[in-house]
Amino acid sequence: MLILGIETSCDESAAAVVKDGRTILGSSVASQIRLHRPYAGVVPELASRAHVESVNEVIEKALRKARCSIDTIDAIAVTIGPGLVGSLLVGRMTAEALAWIHHKPVIGINHIEGHLLSPVLSEKNLAPPFLGLVASGGHTELILARKWGDYRLLGRTRDDAAGEAFDKVAKMINLGYPGGPAIDRLARQGRAERCPFPRAWLPGTWDFSFSGLKTAVLYHLREKKIGSLQAKRDLCAGFQSAVVDVLVRKTMAAARALKVRTVVVGGGVAANQSLRKMFAERAAVDQIRVLIAPPELCTDNAAMIASAAFFSKEKKKLGGLRALRVQPQWHIPFASGRSIPAFSGPH
Ligand code: KG4
Ligand code: ZN
Repeated sequence: MLILGIETSCDESAAAVVKDGRTILGSSVASQIRLHRPYAGVVPELASRAHVESVNEVIEKALRKARCSIDTIDAIAVTIGPGLVGSLLVGRMTAEALAWIHHKPVIGINHIEGHLLSPVLSEKNLAPPFLGLVASGGHTELILARKWGDYRLLGRTRDDAAGEAFDKVAKMINLGYPGGPAIDRLARQGRAERCPFPRAWLPGTWDFSFSGLKTAVLYHLREKKIGSLQAKRDLCAGFQSAVVDVLVRKTMAAARALKVRTVVVGGGVAANQSLRKMFAERAAVDQIRVLIAPPELCTDNAAMIASAAFFSKEKKKLGGLRALRVQPQWHIPFASGRSIPAFSGPH
């Protein structure tokens, strides 16, 4: 089954053709980073206008790379939330127009579900049950996938998302937007032990919190002016290690508590080198399989949207044309279940 995925929820216009949910035949991403950089963050109105300009081009590129025409596509999948409303509308209208013109079914996909399932694109035999960590610019969630489309929320951030913390700290030290990749780069030559920041473990819950860490960085900057490049590197390393430590240890503790043998990690922060390294180390110690998609599939892309559509319950209901509704605040529908043992602290 060939699915054309379209993603325009934030600051990347993307399209991809994916075969049977796992094989990318063609993918194209037009990044708006340069457009938003002067404002040190995404400007919603500029984002939607840029999507209007580039969405058709990325679709054409993805189809060309996949060597197929839209007539050979079985369905069109599009992100309908969560995200910026104007940006989501551009993707939705494009998908619906294509569906009407070419008589194709259209499926609305949750962006976070796309991130959660992104490792299926690189790990061909990945299937539930698995525990997923999604850490992006807007979300930080720990999700238990019992079956395809059957999700249980274990914990989420109570304040800033992990990526948001990266972006805000980067802004404090003038690293520009997006902050994650810049901090990741500088931290490689930094000494984390020189800037030991606090970790919010939140024992008794699987939730996360990053706003206290952000404040700790702010106070650190007020007390010790960081003049040299090395001081900046050390600060980045200290901050990054505080975020990564909590994300990795808490996720692995949840996998052990639930006796889940597979962990998947998605979202922009999953591109972080230090996070990938620490997950690999803990995976070996805990004998738990940890799967993280290549960095370019961790950040926003449309292959993960096409893939999520293939594994979604919606696919089974494919029929005639339906109008989609964008849902800027949409959460994955979470099921309830038996109680989960509480987090008792880091090991
Ligand atoms: O998933 P994503 O591309 O978009 C959202 O859905 O939000 O994630 C973007 C976020 C940004 O906050 C960005 O700073 C962060 O992911 N990010 C990183 C890295 N690459 C992107 N954070 C840490 N290290 C990275 N290498
Ligand atoms: Zn995203």
